[in-house]
Amino acid sequence: MPLVSMRQLLDEAALGSYGVGAFNVNNMEQIQAVMEVARETESPVIVQASRGARSYTNDRFLIHLMWAAAELYPEIPVALHQDHGNSPETCLSAIEQGFTSVMMDGSLLEDGKTPSDFEYNVRVTREVVERAHATGVTVEGELGTLGGIEDGHGSGEVHLTDPEQAVEFVERTGIDALAVAIGTSHGAYKFSKPPDGEVLAMNLIREIHERLPRTHLVMHGSSSVPPELVATINEFGGEMPPSWGVPVQEIQTGIEHGVRKINVDTDARLAMTGAIRRVLAEEPSEFDPRSYLKPARAAMKAVYAERMTQFGQAGHANDYEPKTLDQMRDTYSASIQD
Ligand code: G3H
Ligand code: 13P
Ligand code: ZN
Repeated sequence: MPLVSMRQLLDEAALGSYGVGAFNVNNMEQIQAVMEVARETESPVIVQASRGARSYTNDRFLIHLMWAAAELYPEIPVALHQDHGNSPETCLSAIEQGFTSVMMDGSLLEDGKTPSDFEYNVRVTREVVERAHATGVTVEGELGTLGGIEDGHGSGEVHLTDPEQAVEFVERTGIDALAVAIGTSHGAYKFSKPPDGEVLAMNLIREIHERLPRTHLVMHGSSSVPPELVATINEFGGEMPPSWGVPVQEIQTGIEHGVRKINVDTDARLAMTGAIRRVLAEEPSEFDPRSYLKPARAAMKAVYAERMTQFGQAGHANDYEPKTLDQMRDTYSASIQD
């Protein structure tokens, strides 16, 4: 099966009232781990690449790995998504490469750090929607900004999404999915204590979903930062201070209120790093990369399997016949003419 439109995955998730994990990848082992688990759990899945991932893999390695994934796992609906596109050019180059979905993150200026104004966000996002939908590609936009800068992305200032403004944003841009800022941030250091409603504004999800029941909501910064994964890293020489991520239960509440895409990167990074540290510490004479990359892949698989089950996408891979991007394009153009 070719790479599938993310819009279709999310539409189906809405029909089935479940969420779909969007997992960041940078290399073959991560892609293999995601796909193996998708097969084992019969899950539709979103694989996403940041600008950093695209530059690390030089794009072509990444796209060919994803084509291999689609060829080797033909029964799995899998979308390839550009995470945090910083400009229309970034999104258009992803579409040219063969991505089936793009995020135009106009909540920040092109530097990926400075918060933008609303009119800028509407303008660049609308531009990407026009170009992407013309080829059947899905578009995610973002309103509000996440916290956290330690991964080099984000302003460090939190601006929570305003539900009223969200309605105007969706109407004026025509996006398929809306990333909301509810107090999460990227990376391993999100909260200094278990998050409550003061710092994690789940009520906003409900309010936005009530106003925009047909828009698929996206939660960024959704790693749970499991303490046992951090403990393994620290046991074998790491130095990570304690911190709290987003509890899976909160994500599940979000899914009940319109969250359809859940972004997870950090948890897999933690799993991979811990597994590699363990092998290198326990077997200091080992130098065959396969000796630590295999356990790293297995550790990531455990994370992905847990999340795909918890988000509810497990068991849904065979629910529907994937549409082609041409079919998606025709659907978009028909809805413009209505
Ligand atoms: O946007 C955040 C993701 O975790 C990607 O991170 O830019 O380090 O690849 P990255
Ligand atoms: P985490 O850092 O919480 O995994 O978030 C990833 C993300 O939002 C990618 O866009
Ligand atoms: Zn993100």
